Amino acid sequence: MAQDFASVPPGDADRSPATVDTSVAHVARVYDYWLGGKDNFAADRVAGDRAIEAYPDIVFSVRANRAFLARTVRYLVREAGIRQFLDIGTGIPTARNTHEVAQAEVPECRIVYVDNDPVVLAHARALLSSAQGGATAYVDADLRDTDKILAEAARVLDFSRPVAVMLMAILQHIDNEEDPYGIVAKLLAAMPSGSYLAVSHPASDIEVEAMAEMGKRLNQLMAEKVTFRSQGEVSRFLDGLELVEPGLVRVQQWRPATEAEASSPAALWGGVGRKR
Ligand SMILES: C[S@@+](CC[C@H](N)C(=O)[O-])C[C@H]1O[C@@H](n2cnc3c(N)ncnc32)[C@H](O)[C@@H]1O
Repeated sequence: MAQDFASVPPGDADRSPATVDTSVAHVARVYDYWLGGKDNFAADRVAGDRAIEAYPDIVFSVRANRAFLARTVRYLVREAGIRQFLDIGTGIPTARNTHEVAQAEVPECRIVYVDNDPVVLAHARALLSSAQGGATAYVDADLRDTDKILAEAARVLDFSRPVAVMLMAILQHIDNEEDPYGIVAKLLAAMPSGSYLAVSHPASDIEVEAMAEMGKRLNQLMAEKVTFRSQGEVSRFLDGLELVEPGLVRVQQWRPATEAEASSPAALWGGVGRKR
C-alpha cells in the first residue's frame, strides 16, 4: 500500500534501519555520494571513487541527469498538460525532486514514487510533502513487479487520465535476460492514450572505454549490476511512441535551459515519448 513511512531523518544514514546492508555498495547511496549527499556508507564511497577513477565526468553526468529530470517534468506539466507522475527508481531525495518541480508549476499534480532501496524508503517523508491540492505517495517495490506498482499507484493516480512514467537512470539495472523492454511495455499498456514515458539511461556508445571500465568496476562492487546501452538499444524503450523533439539525445542536449546545462559532460541518453 502507498505509505507515509520515515524511520530515519534525512542526512542520518548511520541510524538506518537494520534492513540496510552497509557491507556492499548500493546504487541509491553511490548516486547520493556522486551528488555530494550524506546518505552513503564506506562501501558506497569506495565504489563511487573507483567509478570516478575510471570515468571522472560521472560527477557531472549525474548532475546533468538531475537537470534533465527537472526539465522533462517542467515540459510535461507546462507544455504537455500532464498532472500525474509515476516516478520509478526515485533515488534518495535531493534537490528538485519530481513533485517539487511539478507542483511548483501546478500544485494539484499527483506523484507516486517507487523504489526498492530501504534507505530511499526511510527518507520517504521528504518525498511526501505535497503541495495543497496535490498528492504524493511512496511505494516500496521493485521495477520488475509491475503488477504491484500498478495496483498501488492506482490508489493515488487515475489511470483513465494521462500519466507520465519516469524511468530515470534505472533501466540499466535490468539486464537483457530480465526482459527490460517487456517491463516498460507492461507499464505503458496500463496508461491511457496521451500518457508519456521519460527515460534516461547510461550509454555504452559515448566515452566508450571509460564507460565500459566504470561499468566493470561497478559490477564488481555494487549490489545492483549495470548494463549500459547504446542509443539504438535505449530508443527501443520508446518504440511505438511519438518522440518529443529533439528525440533521444544526450541528456544535456534535451532542451537545455542554459548554455552551462548544454555543455555539461554526460554519458547518458535521454528522451520523452507520447503514447498515441
Ligand atoms: C541511479 S539512481 C537514479 C535516481 C533518480 N531516478 C535520478 O535519475 O536522479 C537509481 C535508483 O533506482 C533504484 N532502483 C534500482 N533498481 C531498482 C529496481 N529494480 N526497482 C526499483 N528501484 C530500483 C535505486 O534504488 C536508485 O534509487
